[in-house]
Amino acid sequence: MKAIILSGGKGTRLRPLTYTGAKQLVPVANKPILWYGIESIVAAGITEIGIIISPETGDEVKAKTGNGDRFGANITYIRQDQPAGLAHAVKIAQPFLGDSPFVMYLGDNLIQSDLSLFLDHFKAQKLDALTILKSVANPSAFGVAKVDEDGRVLQLVEKPKVPPSNLALVGIYFFDRIIHDAIAQIQPSARGELEITDAIQFLIDASKKVEARQLEGWWLDTGKKDDLLEANRIILDTCLTSSVEGDVDEKSQVIGRVQIGRGSKIVNCTIRGPVTIGSNCHLENCFIGPYSSIADSATLIDADLEHSVLLQGAQVVGIHQRIVDSVIGQRAHLKVAPQRPKALRFLIGDDCQIELA
Ligand code: TTP
Repeated sequence: MKAIILSGGKGTRLRPLTYTGAKQLVPVANKPILWYGIESIVAAGITEIGIIISPETGDEVKAKTGNGDRFGANITYIRQDQPAGLAHAVKIAQPFLGDSPFVMYLGDNLIQSDLSLFLDHFKAQKLDALTILKSVANPSAFGVAKVDEDGRVLQLVEKPKVPPSNLALVGIYFFDRIIHDAIAQIQPSARGELEITDAIQFLIDASKKVEARQLEGWWLDTGKKDDLLEANRIILDTCLTSSVEGDVDEKSQVIGRVQIGRGSKIVNCTIRGPVTIGSNCHLENCFIGPYSSIADSATLIDADLEHSVLLQGAQVVGIHQRIVDSVIGQRAHLKVAPQRPKALRFLIGDDCQIELA
């Protein structure tokens, strides 16, 4: 059994962060989203992993993630020149996959469940394809499946106007090698992509064994800002354990589950967990509220923040109105003068969103 993780794509819904970096490397609880997928694949016993990368962000993904040693895996990088669809990514991965069955994992997805439950079912039933489904309130925004009472998939439709069910396709699939034959038969869709749903539908129409299993735990697709914040909230809520390696002065109060990395200095702050703070940060006269993740080398002085994600090297100074539900990019500076500011001065990149609520 092998795995491929799709870490290319455009990431348009997470601009401006994706102008300068890969969406799959945006941190959730201070760890790149992509790494959660790698860890859950390795936990299911699969160590031969191919990662699909784009020409724009591939080098960054490679440099950060490495050859797999840190995960106990062997990682091969596969370059996709254009984001020509999920089935196209499988097509270009075929030399890596050979005749092996494989799991395909979308690099911006996070799930709570153990993958081995699905893997065992896929193997035991000798399926041609196994999809994972989750009931959602807005199925029209997803690929949707119609399933019979035995779990056999009857039909798949991409973003249907009239959904045949409320069961959305989670971004994790198990395939036998026969999927390559199906992909060879399909044509690009109206949006110009080779769709994995079309390839699976081809298998269904050829009476192959295509089943679905429902996911009980949570599923998060981190492609948009609010989904990213929700992923951050859930991971901090469920996975964070306390560890303080940095310096916390005696005037500071640390309450609940809080992680503070090496070389960070916390001066006269109240930190109410769950909160994770990376290494080499400087925090002074701040309130940091629950569900905040602050990446390495960030600076916060005279600032109040909660339910937010700060990326590496971000600086926030002089903002005691509470900053909430915010994502602040790498090296971004937010600064308010100590006296009531008479002017607002900005240098804001394309597609940024600033809301003074
Ligand atoms: P999407 O989120 O569907 O596409 P995207 O990353 O281009 O994002 P947006 O819609 O915001 O522009 O892709 C799901 C995952 O699959 C994501 O990790 C990117 C990856 N992907 C590829 O690696 N190759 C592809 O051809 C496509 C379409 C996606």
